[in-house]
Amino acid sequence: MLLRLLKDIFSGGNARARGERSALANEHLQRGMSHRSAGRLQDAFAEFKRAAELAPEDADCLYSLAEAAHLAGQPALALEYCAQLRRMAPQLDATDVLQAQIRFEGEHYFQVLKRILEAVQPRTYLEIGVAQGDSLRLVEAPTRAIGVDPEPQLSAPLAENQRVFAETSDAFFASHDVRAELGGLPIDLAFIDGMHHFEFALRDFANVERLATPQSTILIHDVYPLDRVTAERERHRSFWSGDIWRLIVLLKKVRPELSIHTIATAPTGLALVRNLDPGSRLLLERHDPLCKEFLALDYSWIENDMAGKLNLFPNDWAKIRALLG
Ligand SMILES: C[S@@+](CC[C@H](N)C(=O)[O-])C[C@H]1O[C@@H](n2cnc3c(N)ncnc32)[C@H](O)[C@@H]1O
Repeated sequence: MLLRLLKDIFSGGNARARGERSALANEHLQRGMSHRSAGRLQDAFAEFKRAAELAPEDADCLYSLAEAAHLAGQPALALEYCAQLRRMAPQLDATDVLQAQIRFEGEHYFQVLKRILEAVQPRTYLEIGVAQGDSLRLVEAPTRAIGVDPEPQLSAPLAENQRVFAETSDAFFASHDVRAELGGLPIDLAFIDGMHHFEFALRDFANVERLATPQSTILIHDVYPLDRVTAERERHRSFWSGDIWRLIVLLKKVRPELSIHTIATAPTGLALVRNLDPGSRLLLERHDPLCKEFLALDYSWIENDMAGKLNLFPNDWAKIRALLG
């Protein structure tokens, strides 16, 4: 998604803006791009800065400058440019993506998931929310991998150890003998990345947990929002993590025995949950009152101490590895 957004910026949108941009600003912009492609980040930064000075209303110049500041190791400055960009071009989705990347340094969730898979070597893997299949395809044989998504958009064929059920996760859990589908085994590792409304993720968690073991691991994506707008239940922007954050708040309160760490990985965090109790039915039995209670929480509740309230954990592989036992 990130690559697609970046391409959009530097293709259609760019061509339009180029017509309006001064020739000199454009020269600096082009030179900056060449430097960036060649890895000369400080030179790229200097060229983009000049371009932005010459064309102060040009979002492409400012975006390039923000990105170059980030790549050149100046995150505070990069975030400042992102804030300016938001004021200048509020609808530019690429700003969200860039800001999310700057906020969490280190490996993207994809790389973190890949490392977890390699470390855990699960016998079985269940993924809720498959989309193009990019994360599901990370799972290598002999792990038996199942993906569930009502509208999978697989961009390449799956391997023999990977299967997709084209249905909602609720329907999947209600109508399948999941253990039987996994060759009689429990779920060793699960990745919840489906519907971005908290109550869906809550049911996904409860359903996975009852099919897991106390040694299993559940990963929950998108639990650490970028801002209020992208954390709303309604989708206003292309970048959207919804209100999955509520699930972390809920689990911390009603299931204090769980071990919950939210890895600070871009774009919006990855919770790693262990010390599961497959015998617990609390989340399913109290589903409605729990939803009512936690849907009433306003975003401002986490805003003042998001790291503390959502158990933020460093995106440092040695430390993450230690959580896996
Ligand atoms: C963010 S994408 C998943 C991305 C994928 N895990 C990856 O990392 O490449 C979310 C997916 O959840 C799916 N989805 C939406 N509602 C769902 C539901 N009720 N059950 C399962 N999947 C759902 C959507 O169709 C979409 O493909």
